[in-house]
Amino acid sequence: MSAPDWSPQSWRRRPAQQQPAWPDEEALEQVLKTLAGVPPLVFAGEARRLTGALAEVAEGRAFLLQAGDCAESFTDFSADSIRDKLKVILQMAVVLTYGAGVPVVKVGRIAGQFAKPRTSATERVGDVELESFRGHMVNDDAPHAEGRVPDPRRLVTAYHQSASTLNLLRAFTKGGFADLSQVHLWNQQFVASSEEGRRYEQMAAEIDRALRFMSACGIDLVGEESLHQVDFFTSHEALILGYEEALTRQDSLTGDFYDCSAHMVWVGERTRQLGGAHLEFLAGIRNPVGAKIGPTATPDEVLGLCARLDPDRTPGRLTLITRMGADRVADALPPLLGAVRDAGHCVVWACDPMHGNTFASDGGRKTRRFDDILRELRGFFDAHRGAGTWPGGVHVELTGDDVTECLGGFGDILEDQLHLRYTTTCDPRLNARQSIDLSFRVAELLRG
Ligand code: PEP
Ligand code: CO
Repeated sequence: MSAPDWSPQSWRRRPAQQQPAWPDEEALEQVLKTLAGVPPLVFAGEARRLTGALAEVAEGRAFLLQAGDCAESFTDFSADSIRDKLKVILQMAVVLTYGAGVPVVKVGRIAGQFAKPRTSATERVGDVELESFRGHMVNDDAPHAEGRVPDPRRLVTAYHQSASTLNLLRAFTKGGFADLSQVHLWNQQFVASSEEGRRYEQMAAEIDRALRFMSACGIDLVGEESLHQVDFFTSHEALILGYEEALTRQDSLTGDFYDCSAHMVWVGERTRQLGGAHLEFLAGIRNPVGAKIGPTATPDEVLGLCARLDPDRTPGRLTLITRMGADRVADALPPLLGAVRDAGHCVVWACDPMHGNTFASDGGRKTRRFDDILRELRGFFDAHRGAGTWPGGVHVELTGDDVTECLGGFGDILEDQLHLRYTTTCDPRLNARQSIDLSFRVAELLRG
């Protein structure tokens, strides 16, 4: 149960980091009132089902794959881009399930991932100082002063885009597209002709053979629902608290509050202050929640997060997403694992190998090295083996497109090629080939 003085608005009494300077408070309140009356995007029962699935992860019987864009875009929005992102996530999940023999809980950074925390409130583009881009839910990424002014009407657009994205995801995952017999069709053309794609094809052929074998043994594959549909959940960073508050609903079955903007929401590295507004909000909703944890987090801070977000020690309620950086994970992670383990919190530990490994290339583009991403993952698995805890999942930024945003991988993207297809609105994402390669590596790490 939430604390007696908690309400969907109680975050307003605490300091809130990273909130946009909305120029017109009245227009904002009007929009939030509209959003308070719209249908929820997800239902409480679905969020509870995700908590149950994450409890399996927390207890070491399943693995979490949380993946999607750094920031979804209002302009790059189409059925194809949603389908291609889903394809690559389904491919990764099947590689992990087949390769490591564990069930995979699939959670997208999708259908709501529209707001970005920024290290600096302003950025310099050429000679001008502009307000920083804060995600399409807030302002425009184009480098023009007017577009950078926060516009609350964008919150409504974000809600509608989330609704149509989620609608398509539900259709794809429940309507036949995610059927295991389609496993070859998820391999996109540009992936199929590559080293990673061929490895995937080989595995898909083995799956086909295994299915034919089971069918020949008399097992009823047609009637086995789990072969034809997948559960796919949504998540995003709960950053713009007015929006999250407006989409919070009281569940008529239990009386508990759920943030119905997504199945799961998380608090970022920049907004996880124990006395802050973001934790106050997350503490009272009953969705499964996450918290990002960077290399400066102390065991006491992390125990504080656990106490605040998981006071009842509910397996699956809290996912701690560590993003230490490849060079720091070996030192920074073990003390945290030990402290949480000894305090008796049954959390999901997930590795975000992206956000601790970002740097600016010589040409000034933000990028990440595939090798650093793998190094952090290896460090994460090693630390968990050492602590006797379960390396429960990965949290990655990816796209189904053939982008050139992260360096390396089999295709070996080089610094002078970054500009070729660099389309992200925020952080550099793995492309489909790099993502599939990554899933094979993680499956190997999981097998031990
Ligand atoms: C993100 O996930 O896009 C992000 C900003 O992460 P972090 O809070 O870990 O920096
Ligand atoms: Co990011």
